[in-house]
Amino acid sequence: MELHILEHSLKVASIAKEGIQFFTHGLIKLAFLPSKTRCKFFTLTETPEDYTIIVDEEGFKGKLCFEKGAACVRVSVWLRQQLNVVSGGGSSSSSQPIGVTKIAKSVIAPLADHNISVFMLSTYQTDFILVRERDLPLVMHTLSSEFTLLRVVNGEAVAANSLGVTNGFVKPKLVQRPVIHPLSSPSNMFCVTSLDPVTLPSVATILMDIMFYSSGVKESAAPSDDLEYIRFFSFSLIEGYVSLVMDEETQKRFPLNVLFTSASGELWKMVRIGGQPLGFDECGIVAQISESLAAADIPAYYISTFKFDHALVPEENIQSVIGALRTNEGGGQ
Ligand code: ARG
Repeated sequence: MELHILEHSLKVASIAKEGIQFFTHGLIKLAFLPSKTRCKFFTLTETPEDYTIIVDEEGFKGKLCFEKGAACVRVSVWLRQQLNVVSGGGSSSSSQPIGVTKIAKSVIAPLADHNISVFMLSTYQTDFILVRERDLPLVMHTLSSEFTLLRVVNGEAVAANSLGVTNGFVKPKLVQRPVIHPLSSPSNMFCVTSLDPVTLPSVATILMDIMFYSSGVKESAAPSDDLEYIRFFSFSLIEGYVSLVMDEETQKRFPLNVLFTSASGELWKMVRIGGQPLGFDECGIVAQISESLAAADIPAYYISTFKFDHALVPEENIQSVIGALRTNEGGGQ
């Protein structure tokens, strides 16, 4: 397998719900007018807590005047590099586990064993693992035995050499990693989809409405007694590819045939990880979840946001996933 180390330097920011109005102008440019910005990596994810924005330096400098609303933003310069896992052979064979399941053993577990903190972002197209820039030599050393490491410079992949850096830290091999943080599973179901960037302008107003003007609006789809309903919407525009995660009801707002859907129209349920905000230093959270999923061969997308982590598993597997993770619960509170 090849592992691409991408050249983007990324920032992860949290914008408070009530502060989003100060940023809509910049965010709209980043999301819908890529030709007007030099930004190549942009994601916006709305959760009940906040908006998580991941953006490269170009996008950050040019389009997000964070100073204006500094009070409602925390910017973490923590995440600086990203790895992009490209599996060998055809990419969309349906028998292959997708997302975080596919890379649980080869990437996620070794990084966790070496105490390297990651931030995961699955998209419709691929999986990105964000690591701190200063951890990169260590990351490369850890993964060099499993992968051909390629560094992407100006769009071209060149061999990247591991410098043999270690931190001397290797976790004792546990039979099974206990799941430490509390889990919950919201009632709504999600689709992970995409669209042809050419059609983006035609749905831009729908997207803007969902992204910036829907919070606080009681959605008819969310009966007020349904406490388990979660607001979760994710948009990303990464190197020209659009990826969207939205719930079933939100999907209905789009005209037919715009969103890519698989013939089976599969839906995903969410496992939300974390009681208190997870922070950025702890390692092994993604590993705890993804190893269980890999052991059961259950495909999953995995999206870290500023405060919590989210795994999406096939609707029909949710009970067994929750069951497996709960029996594995053990660490702390
Ligand atoms: N750093 C965690 C890990 O290595 C995953 C990210 C959790 N933090 C967050 N803010 N979502 O497993």
